[in-house]
Amino acid sequence: MAKHILSLTFLFLLCQTGRASAPVAPTPALVAPIIDGNYTDKLAHLEIRALNGGWLPFANKTVCKAAYPFLLDALVATEVNYNTTPPGWGHADSVVLGSDVVLHPMGVANFYGFMSDGVGEHLKSLNIFRIIFSMNSDKSHNTTVMASSPSGNESCVFTNSEWNTSNFDGFNFNLTKLLVPP
Ligand SMILES: *[C@@H]1O[C@H](CO)[C@@H](O)[C@H](O)[C@H]1NC(C)=O
Ligand SMILES: *[C@@H]1O[C@H](CO)[C@@H](O)[C@H](O)[C@H]1NC(C)=O
Ligand SMILES: *[C@@H]1O[C@H](CO)[C@@H](O)[C@H](O)[C@H]1NC(C)=O
Ligand SMILES: *[C@@H]1O[C@H](CO)[C@@H](O)[C@H](O)[C@H]1NC(C)=O
Ligand SMILES: *[C@@H]1O[C@H](CO)[C@@H](O)[C@H](O)[C@H]1NC(C)=O
Ligand SMILES: *[C@@H]1O[C@H](CO)[C@@H](O)[C@H](O)[C@H]1NC(C)=O
Repeated sequence: MAKHILSLTFLFLLCQTGRASAPVAPTPALVAPIIDGNYTDKLAHLEIRALNGGWLPFANKTVCKAAYPFLLDALVATEVNYNTTPPGWGHADSVVLGSDVVLHPMGVANFYGFMSDGVGEHLKSLNIFRIIFSMNSDKSHNTTVMASSPSGNESCVFTNSEWNTSNFDGFNFNLTKLLVPP
């Protein structure tokens, strides 16, 4: 679990800062040299994140739910065509609310990650700014759609997989600092 937590924390830091230096981590076991398939995830969960990517597990979700009722429980389909042989080559395409978004390999070590570099006009007009698709070597996968909160002070992050708050102690940041005041 600690490994997942670290990799996810890293993923969001990477997303927020664009830093490319991955920590030294094992290369995933290759299930197949090529991942070629269509995957669908339902955005059943909502997380609030600070602008620096830090998770705000106790933040009030009402504002994000009200701003993005069409994202909660939305289905996102992603077509992946990726050669996992290092350094890895290929791409992914997600369909989000009917708009196509090209995702690029993130080049992280612990999982196969693909991230958008900007979104089209339609999604931009809805304040949706980033799409991430990630897959483990067992082909389990997560889709994440990030949107600005109405105040712009946080991100509303819609995803198919829920983080386990019981493991919150494992996060390496100052919780007090990140909590949204009630
Ligand atoms: C994924 O879906 C696209 C569009 O419908 C289709 O052209 C493609 O063959 C599918 N790929 C796989 C591996 O099923
Ligand atoms: C969350 O915010 C909404 C709207 O501001 C408010 O009505 C609700 O009581 C808040 N929920 C909690 C648990 O504080
Ligand atoms: C997907 O999310 C779950 C729960 O947050 C996590 O345990 C898993 O490592 C994630 N997988 C990928 C590929 O990001
Ligand atoms: C957003 O952050 C700014 C600057 O810290 C603050 O003045 C403002 O009250 C915040 N807005 C909300 C809705 O929290
Ligand atoms: C969350 O983590 C705790 C402690 O590791 C574990 O006991 C519990 O089963 C986990 N819950 C889920 C839904 O994964
Ligand atoms: C965490 O942040 C809070 C608020 O900024 C601060 O008062 C506290 O000293 C910090 N704790 C640590 C361990 O850095």
